[in-house]
Amino acid sequence: MYVCLCRAVTDRQIRESVENGASSFREVRAELDVGTCCGRCVPEARELIDQTLFELAARISVAA
Ligand code: FES
Repeated sequence: MYVCLCRAVTDRQIRESVENGASSFREVRAELDVGTCCGRCVPEARELIDQTLFELAARISVAA
């Protein structure tokens, strides 16, 4: 599903960016250009990044 229509960035790309080490909206934006045009996708992108970070943290704490 597209999160950012202006830059054609999908939820999968955002999740992959976080899983590959991005830990903030700024880092994901630098990698994918998400949110760099009209900006309407920024709240949804931020929420997706937070959710993915939360899921990663849960996986790490379960594995520890
Ligand atoms: Fe992402 Fe416009 S929808 S910048």
